[in-house]
Formats: sequence, C-alpha cells, structure tokens
Amino acid sequence: MELKDKIVKAFAEHFGGEGILFASAGRINLIGEHTDYNGGFVFPGAIDKVIMADIRPNGTDKVNLYSLDLDESATFGLNEEDAPAAQWARYVFGVCRETIKRGGTVKGFDAAFAGNVPLGAGLSSSAALESCFAYAVNDLFNDNKIEKFELAKIGQSTEHNYCGVNCGIMDQFASVFGKKNCLIRLDCRSLEYEYFPFEIDGYRLVLVDSVVKHELVDSPYNKRRQSCERVASRLGIETLRDADMEMLESVKNEISAEDYIRAKFVIEEKERVLDVCDALNRGDIDTVGRLMYATHDGLSRDYEVSCEELDYLNDIAKECGVTGSRIMGGGFGGCTINLVANDKYDHFIATAKEKFNARYGHEPKIYDVIISDGARRCE
Ligand code: GLA
Repeated sequence: MELKDKIVKAFAEHFGGEGILFASAGRINLIGEHTDYNGGFVFPGAIDKVIMADIRPNGTDKVNLYSLDLDESATFGLNEEDAPAAQWARYVFGVCRETIKRGGTVKGFDAAFAGNVPLGAGLSSSAALESCFAYAVNDLFNDNKIEKFELAKIGQSTEHNYCGVNCGIMDQFASVFGKKNCLIRLDCRSLEYEYFPFEIDGYRLVLVDSVVKHELVDSPYNKRRQSCERVASRLGIETLRDADMEMLESVKNEISAEDYIRAKFVIEEKERVLDVCDALNRGDIDTVGRLMYATHDGLSRDYEVSCEELDYLNDIAKECGVTGSRIMGGGFGGCTINLVANDKYDHFIATAKEKFNARYGHEPKIYDVIISDGARRCE
C-alpha cells in the first residue's frame, strides 16, 4: 500500500473520518558540512523520501498523535508543562511550542503520520517531521502567515530546546525550501539562498548507507560546535565564517590542538562550497568530485566525525573510479553521498555490497537520490 493510503487508513481507524495531508522531505547535502552553525555556506536539496501526516483540528486544546511506524500513540496539551515523555512526540510538541512562542496560533488536533526517510541515516528524518508539522500548523491555524524561514527556525529551535541537539539551520531549511531537481546554496549568515538546477548529464547521485546508527543527541556533535565557538570567540569574531587560515595560525599557540584542527576544517570547507558551485557552473564535474573527496578526508581526519565503515565505503568508491564520494550529514554513522558516472554505477554498487558484506557481515543500503519538493500540503 502506498504511504499516503496507509496514513489515511490509520487516521480513519484511530480518529474516524479524514484529515488533511501534509508532507515534508528528508535532505541530502552535496557539500558544506558543519558549516551551517559557523555562518558558512551549505548546498543541500530535499529528496523524495518524506514524513507525511494526516491532520485535523479537533476543537479541544489537546494534540493526539498516532505514529504508524512505531504503532504508538501520544497525547499532550499545548502548555510548556505538558511535554510528552516519548521522544518522537517531543518533536511535534516542540514545533507547537515554538510556534506559540513566536506569537503563532496552535489549537488541538488529531494526527496520524508515517514516513519513508530512513532513520539515523543522516537524511534528517527529524527535520522532515518538524517541517511537516510546522508547515501544517501554519496552514491550518495561521493562514500561512508565518514566513518559510521562520518555519525552518521553528524546527531548528525544536531540536535545540526539546531534543538536545544544537544543530544549525541546514536540515530544516532544505526540508522547507526544497524544490524538485534543484540544490540550494544557502549562506547561513545572511540567509540568502539560490536555487541551482541540478541535473548532470551522464552522472547520478547515490547514497550508500553504512547502517551504522547515527544519533546526534548527546553526541560529540555539540562538542564540535563548542570547539568552533571557542575559536571564534578567541579571534573576536561572531562565527568562523569570518576567519581565514592566517587568523587561525595567529592564535594557534593559544588554543588547544583539537580546537585548531576543527576550525581548520571549517575554514577549508566553507571555501569548498563556493568552489563546487563555480565548478558546476563551468561543467567541471571532476573538480566537484575532487572537492567531495577532500571534504571526506577533512571530516575523517580533522573533524573526526567519520567511522571505520564510512572510511571503508569511501575507499571502495575511490577504487571503483567514483567521481566524488564523502560522508554526508552530521557524521558518526549514516551514509556516504556519491557522484557516479552512469557507466561506473553498476560496478560500484556491486563492489560496495560485496566488500562491505565480506568485512561487516551485512550489505550497505543503497538509495538513488531524486531531488524533490520540500514541505507542502498534499492535494
Ligand atoms: C546535522 C545538523 C545540521 C548540520 C549537519 C552537518 O545534520 O542537523 O545542522 O550541522 O549535521 O553539516
């Protein structure tokens, strides 16, 4: 059964009748990792994997949720003290609270939801969930008056205040602003963005999922951010966006070796995003690929957010002549993103499955990337 039909059926069984369907998407990021919370550039796009919810106002001050994927229900009120215990429900609670804090209206509703964004794969299933509900609450109770950027920030603040992840804006931004066949270069300082049509003749993007569990809560993710903030504050600037290698060298002896190496990665990575966009404009795909490998090396050696399995997948990609390959997202598990020439695709996928299986006892999962629309009301 299609996702949509399953959700409509579950809504009818749990709440009776029908609601209105909303969806939002997971995301990929071509390049620009751990740059968002440093005021740098990112280059994400939404994908065809979504969280979808069937929602109907219920005339009370309670929110009743049913998660098909977990087969669990949760109910909460809309005041701060009503926070639900279940982590998954806190995402929706957070979105409601953050909307209210910004002066928006939220009334009680019933909702059944499910998704096909793989969990813990670094594809931002949580941002998809937040954006889906933020979009729905805006549509149902606020006449769509809350700006799209504010919807992304509602999702981001939900992560900060209700889920313990001090993330940047990239995931929620991509989930809300995603557009079919386009990547979006976002300047995370000015919040200016530009859509880049992304279809490269003869190449495709594919994700190879190590299935190593990726969990950002209580993870070293927040520590990476703290390192960057310490260096920025030592340099007397707001974020590392305004730093260059010369500035970093000038404080090298006054900061820890670890903070130095983290900041070095960020300074190099923000340049790589601009270089990739230039290369794309010139049709120079080899340079795009080379920069993706450079990002992987930086994330693995300097930022230290890779793991053995992801490094192995990167090595396999290199051996198979894949144009570009790197760990994607926050790290600590999840996927590599690979830019592959069509004629190398079959060999790469077969080799990755075989070699990974021989070493780790299971095959990686493969997802072909289809760049799609972000948050929406489904007709
Ligand atoms: C996670 C965060 C994002 C971003 C990436 C790394 O996905 O949610 O804000 O920092 O990691 O680029």
